[in-house]
Amino acid sequence: MSPVHKIVAAAFLLTGLLAAPQALMAHGDVQPQPVDTTGLKPIGKAVLKENPYRGDALAIKIGEHGYTQNCARCHGIGAISGGISPDLRKMDPAKEGDEWYIYRSLSGSAKDGRVLMPKFEGIISQEGLWAIRSWLDTLPPPND
Ligand code: HEC
Repeated sequence: MSPVHKIVAAAFLLTGLLAAPQALMAHGDVQPQPVDTTGLKPIGKAVLKENPYRGDALAIKIGEHGYTQNCARCHGIGAISGGISPDLRKMDPAKEGDEWYIYRSLSGSAKDGRVLMPKFEGIISQEGLWAIRSWLDTLPPPND
């Protein structure tokens, strides 16, 4: 990372807020990072088909932070997509959308050798990914 990138990243991490969304959007090379899931009940290795944390306040809080760090640059601040990547508020809510959510989040997506979305397997734990889903599930779907 260049010094400028480091400063932007550090400022972003320190505030933990979206004080500078433009700067964030302009720096599309922000590295994916693990999500600290301390306090959440651990999940084993097997990939679950259903979110074990739905409605859990701590999971929702952790998930919002994890989303902001790892997903917002493509899927939009606050999960409001600018149109480049799918709007995750439009996913099937709750159990119906869980299996697809975890599959896509772990595996990412590529087309004709081009990475559309990086795989998060090995970067964000299953706990972290389900926490993000818990937060997404609290958002009302867009009107359009
Ligand atoms: C580099 C940009 C990028 C990042 C970062 C990214 N995504 Fe994606 N994501 C995409 C794109 C592009 C697609 C559409 C892929 C396709 O059409 O095959 C997608 C699709 C998805 C889907 C399927 C949506 C649907 O309606 O079918 C889910 C779920 C998803 N992403 C979750 C996440 C989560 C969770 C994170 C953060 C941990 C994340 N993504 C980070 C670009 C990204």
